[in-house]
Amino acid sequence: MRIAKTTWPLSLLLPLLLLAAPATAQEPGGAAIEIDDPERAERLYRAHCGRCHGVQGLGGEGPELAQLVLPRVADQTQLEGIIRDGIAGTGMPGARATILDDEAVALVATYVLWLGAQTTADASGVTGDAGRGHDLYWAADCASCHIVAGRGTAVGPELTIIGLRRGAEYLREALRAPAARLPVSRTGLRSGFFEYLPMRIVTRDGDIYNGMRMNEDSFTIQMMTLSGAFVSLRKSDIAEMEKRVGHSLMPLTQDLGDDDVEDLVAYLTTLGRGS
Ligand code: HEC
Ligand code: HEC
Repeated sequence: MRIAKTTWPLSLLLPLLLLAAPATAQEPGGAAIEIDDPERAERLYRAHCGRCHGVQGLGGEGPELAQLVLPRVADQTQLEGIIRDGIAGTGMPGARATILDDEAVALVATYVLWLGAQTTADASGVTGDAGRGHDLYWAADCASCHIVAGRGTAVGPELTIIGLRRGAEYLREALRAPAARLPVSRTGLRSGFFEYLPMRIVTRDGDIYNGMRMNEDSFTIQMMTLSGAFVSLRKSDIAEMEKRVGHSLMPLTQDLGDDDVEDLVAYLTTLGRGS
């Protein structure tokens, strides 16, 4: 099987070494990535990771793994740690949830590095123009609900490092059909969901609030209104409270053409990657 023997052409490595940013997961000097049991590795990857990272590692609900440099991964040990423990506070589950022992974790880690070594920098699902996407993002209303690098309003999830968190296909769908993604979020897989449950509240005084639930306990509820105001209400002051499970507050982007969506996706995937 072709997995076992892969060497890195120097032409791929050189630009990487010059970038010298975070240490790369790949062995310097173009050493081959050897997988002890390639078929089992592929099977494990597909069964436990493919659902979120794509069967070829091109990303989806999770980021693209088939890339030369994984932003969070300096070496194989760190990669194994991420696979074993997940990334706290994100949609990346630890192996406890996926039932992989140490040997399987190591095998999958090697497979992920191999996926990275197969790709070239442009082999991602991104076809749009990130520069144009940037202009579009800031010209459209996006910043009225999202924060990027401190600019904007936090009605929806912060997008500062969205490029690390989500793959192109997921982002495309988030823009084209936001509500279609919500069933996944009900299972809690999509980070941000519980914080971003849309709600409508009417107080006993007759004030009406539309926005996102930020936090809730037995006696109080906090929400971010659609205009970006933070309100904290006592439940005893609330006359009506509607939790709109399955409802997306993302405006529909019907008025955006396919090219616009692709450009926005291209821009979003750069966020957090320092490019
Ligand atoms: C339920 C979906 C899901 C599954 C299953 C899943 N991941 Fe992830 N993974 C994610 C998400 C989402 C992120 C991004 C976390 C964030 O930053 O918000 C992520 C991040 C990562 C990262 C960090 C990439 C980087 O450097 O930024 C690695 C590596 C990774 N996953 C590997 C794996 C491997 C290997 C498996 C299979 C054992 C796996 N994941 C299974 C959703 C998933
Ligand atoms: C009225 C507020 C609002 C506006 C305007 C808005 N969004 Fe959103 N967005 C949200 C909310 C709320 C969510 C959380 C999930 C949901 O409700 O769909 C979200 C989710 C997203 C996600 C998915 C994030 C994730 O991690 O799952 C992306 C990407 C996104 N928005 C991009 C954009 C872009 C690009 C624009 C401009 C074209 C935009 N949004 C305009 C409120 C908004």
